[in-house]
Amino acid sequence: MSDAPVQQFDKSLQRLAERIRSRRTVKLFLKQPVSTKLILEAIEVARWAPNHHLTEPWHFYLLGRQSIAASVDLIRVIVTERKDAKVGEFKAQDAATRPGWLVVTCRKSDDALRQQEDYASVCCAIQNFSLYLSEAGLASKWSTGEITRDQRFYDLLGIDTEQEFIVGLIWYGYPKITPTQQRREVAEIVTELD
Ligand SMILES: Cc1cc2nc3c(=O)[nH]c(=O)nc-3n(C[C@H](O)[C@H](O)[C@H](O)COP(=O)(O)O)c2cc1C
Repeated sequence: MSDAPVQQFDKSLQRLAERIRSRRTVKLFLKQPVSTKLILEAIEVARWAPNHHLTEPWHFYLLGRQSIAASVDLIRVIVTERKDAKVGEFKAQDAATRPGWLVVTCRKSDDALRQQEDYASVCCAIQNFSLYLSEAGLASKWSTGEITRDQRFYDLLGIDTEQEFIVGLIWYGYPKITPTQQRREVAEIVTELD
């Protein structure tokens, strides 16, 4: 019997592992715009995340030119309030270089366990989204910066804080510089039990 199918399986496993390993948080992007079609495809894939009770607790807010400009202005305001105008301007200019902006929210629940599980699912969905973009040659940065906790950002995006909370602001685009990363050895993080 030929062992070709097994070899093929190994190859696809290695490819998958390498995709997961090589996805990096990127802070510097090229100006090259990203097609909305590609982002909608990534969101279509993202929603296949594991999800207890199939609550589908996620919502994706894809920002356009006006909402990005308003968000950049808001970053300037927030950082100026917390630090000073110089840092505020620097942070705003930095944010303005990010080509794509996606805000991912989770539906609120009165049940603590449901809330935890829903949040976990949204995190898995964001990882799916990031991996899909990575495979497509793009990169992203998941941010939980100050703006994601500011009521003015919710108002700007039309998000009802009674109903949803922001899990991440995801900046995406074609990477200019891709950093390297490290992880601890597997032996350090695994406990094997009988
Ligand atoms: C929930 C969450 C929130 C994060 N928030 C930020 C953030 O606010 N600012 C930032 O620079 N990176 C943020 N990151 C990205 C991490 O810093 C990044 O994943 C980490 O440095 C490892 O790099 P890697 O993603 O390339 O493996 C966040 C990541 C996660 C999962």
